[in-house]
Amino acid sequence: MRNIKFFDTTLRDGEQSAGVNLNLQEKLEIARQLERLRVDIIEAGFPASSKGDFEAVKQIAETVRTCSVTGLSRSVRSDIDAAWEALKGGAEPRLHLFIATSPIHMVHKLRMTPEQVIEAAVEAVKYAKRFFPIVQWSAEDACRSELPFLAKIVAEVIKAGASVINIPDTVGYITPKEYGEIFLYLQNNVPNIENVSLSAHCHDDLGMAVVNSLSAIEHGATQVECTINGIGERAGNAALEEIAVALHIRKDYYQVETRLNLQEIKRTSNLVSKLTGVVVPPNKAVVGKNAFAHESGIHQDGVLKEKTTYEIISPELIGVPSNSMVLGKHSGRHALRNRVEELGYTLSDEEINQLFVRFKELADKKKDITDDDLIALIFEEKFDPFKDFYQLSSIQVQYGTNQIPTAVVVLKDGKGNEIQEAATGAGSVEALYNTLERCFQTEVTLLDYRIESVGGGRDALAQVFVKVRVRDVETSGRGTAQDVLEASAKAYINAMNRVFMIEAMRAENEKVATS
Ligand code: KIV
Ligand code: ZN
Repeated sequence: MRNIKFFDTTLRDGEQSAGVNLNLQEKLEIARQLERLRVDIIEAGFPASSKGDFEAVKQIAETVRTCSVTGLSRSVRSDIDAAWEALKGGAEPRLHLFIATSPIHMVHKLRMTPEQVIEAAVEAVKYAKRFFPIVQWSAEDACRSELPFLAKIVAEVIKAGASVINIPDTVGYITPKEYGEIFLYLQNNVPNIENVSLSAHCHDDLGMAVVNSLSAIEHGATQVECTINGIGERAGNAALEEIAVALHIRKDYYQVETRLNLQEIKRTSNLVSKLTGVVVPPNKAVVGKNAFAHESGIHQDGVLKEKTTYEIISPELIGVPSNSMVLGKHSGRHALRNRVEELGYTLSDEEINQLFVRFKELADKKKDITDDDLIALIFEEKFDPFKDFYQLSSIQVQYGTNQIPTAVVVLKDGKGNEIQEAATGAGSVEALYNTLERCFQTEVTLLDYRIESVGGGRDALAQVFVKVRVRDVETSGRGTAQDVLEASAKAYINAMNRVFMIEAMRAENEKVATS
């Protein structure tokens, strides 16, 4: 059976989703989880694009040992140099070089002739080969390129040293049959193509990213590029979990193997959804909440008699836990640490100690602490790198049917200074957010506000997710607390801390660029 490599680009193309800004801690945790999922290649970012991306790619390359780590690069020497600096400490450094090959992109974006594009691509591959053992070359907008030109440039970059050729459907335009035909065309028209791996990279603008990727596999691709939950630019990329499970369930048809650990799929999907704030629709194939829910009486009856009547994928296959372990106020530090590790999170001793304090506080108010509660606490503890930024000290909100809702908030800034403000609003959350806006003395546009309970029950934790725009920064924030208003305040402050961090990083980048 042929082996198919999974190239995960959640941290690069996935992170290009509108409003998604992952910080270093969050990227590292996703990379560790991708390693547990046993993807073959992790595209960790675009090192030349910013100082933050460079640092994240470098740290991921130095942390991940059992996957190859790669970074994106334009066909220019300065990008390749930055990528090498970031990736050289990796277990198997590889470079992902790209240049556009469609007439639309060459004329309007690159303003280069086809000959100039070939020259730039060849020169970039040759330069990259001085450093990188593996160079992957991508023809951006390949699917709207002229096939003879595509074959010509592919032949040239193979001669120059590229060992993986990627054929992206950058704008999600191609159909499955046409995409398969491009792979066949290249195999029939490019000398030495049998010495390289062919890769598929599909976007979902017409809802065909997964099926196009599968078509590429049927027509000779041995690598697929995808993201967890299908997140990505515009309508997103091909969803890794859907391709992986389709190849597994229909092995009889596709006749291929992968090295993925499918049992890690659900956990990876949850982690990416929580950290990016991109919700998984309930009916999403494989990882949606309802993917295994049998609603109609006839289906329930069938499944009770024999699961396979209506169930082609078992929840266990993708690691959906059959029961959720419960901890309580008598559980000790040891039990907590065990459960955290079983849930797949890596926490330092200090983080465990802090988590234990939060766990005990919660256990005093809530009888059973479920896995979901624990994960919510871990997220608060581990993924809040803003301890030195603004923190909530207290809130007081007054609401009555015949009163004007009023909020008073006290914040602490990184230097320990207190900021206190009060304001009113049409409802409690608006009063609270008007007050916070005063505290930060800047105009904040609230683009999204979502609230959900962690698990069930009246004493469930509240988790709030917000998306904000401040000046030209769009980002998200989340907060968890037992009270919905406290969770709302925390989510808003978390988003504002991210805004300040992004602005500080941008200013730093500008300083570097002008020095
Ligand atoms: O979609 C695309 O063309 C890309 C390339 C940069 C590979 O993401
Ligand atoms: Zn892409």
